[in-house]
Amino acid sequence: MIDFHSHILPKMDDGSQSTQESLEMLKALSKQGVTRVVATPHFYANDESVSAFLERRKSSYDRLISCVTPDMPEIINGAEVRYYGGISHLENLEALCVKGSRLILLEMPENRWTEYAIREIEDVSSERNLIPVLAHIERYIAYQNSETLYRLLESGVLMQINASFLNGFFSRRKALNMLKRNQIHFIGSDCHNVSDRPPEIQKAVKIIRKKLGDGFTDSFVDFANIFLKI
Ligand SMILES: [Fe+2]
Repeated sequence: MIDFHSHILPKMDDGSQSTQESLEMLKALSKQGVTRVVATPHFYANDESVSAFLERRKSSYDRLISCVTPDMPEIINGAEVRYYGGISHLENLEALCVKGSRLILLEMPENRWTEYAIREIEDVSSERNLIPVLAHIERYIAYQNSETLYRLLESGVLMQINASFLNGFFSRRKALNMLKRNQIHFIGSDCHNVSDRPPEIQKAVKIIRKKLGDGFTDSFVDFANIFLKI
């Protein structure tokens, strides 16, 4: 199983604040059957250049990897790239993709997106030849026209949800309906620590299995693995 969204790299952002904390998060994921975790530290183009971010990410990753044991999930480098007007022109945007793929995790504003913003997501796909993945889509859908989601899906944009969307009693039905309609492609814990935003993903996958069956769940999990070229 893959956790597609995590703040597991130490001292990169508001996620893990130490190597020790990262190791605890990795152990918790491992106990839940996670074999691969995509590390998606926040990237804000206003604050930092792509190259400075990549340098920081490398040293954080190197520090952590030297302490990781074989029973822990494999860490795949990525980023959670905050949307801004002009992102489709960002030099070296490709370097922020999930390693070994053309997938780029985008964090969108929590308001109604302008036509310009929607076009930019499409441009990341058509002009940059990347595959945009919208992070925790459940945070934005209520603000959008119903056509926006369909339009983006038709343009080849993929959607990620946080496990909490399924774990929440009131949002579960909506999450399951979206899964059934193939509108969700990846699931992540979006873990930041081991206290208030812990690595919790197994419960959500169990809900998918119970409600949508083994066949659906296995192909959902396989989909992510195929993208990351197992
Ligand atoms: Fe996140």
